[in-house]
Amino acid sequence: MGLYDRYVLPRLIDTACSMGDVMARRARLVPQALGEVLEIGIGTGLNLRYYDPSRVTRLVGVDPAAQMQALAQRRSADVDFPVDMV
Ligand SMILES: C[S@@+](CC[C@H](N)C(=O)[O-])C[C@H]1O[C@@H](n2cnc3c(N)ncnc32)[C@H](O)[C@@H]1O
Repeated sequence: MGLYDRYVLPRLIDTACSMGDVMARRARLVPQALGEVLEIGIGTGLNLRYYDPSRVTRLVGVDPAAQMQALAQRRSADVDFPVDMV
């Protein structure tokens, strides 16, 4: 994997997925998750900050792209429930 794929592309996708009213939609939808959560295609973990730690007991994030997972791992350090990346 080249430098572009490893470092630039994940941040471009992260920026694109944060544009417009997407974050406002995340803020409305994601806090409704309850219990043990499976997020398929967690990407860079942009949803993580919106899960309600009083409702989520554990989150499993699945993503085949290891370079995306690296950013999600970093964001998972800021939440108050266990996060496992697969
Ligand atoms: C556009 S990103 C969205 C990421 C995140 N859900 C968000 O809302 O910001 C789509 C993600 O789905 C992942 N993906 C693609 N195919 C997948 C599959 N078969 N199973 C799980 N994740 C997959 C990609 O690697 C990418 O990280």
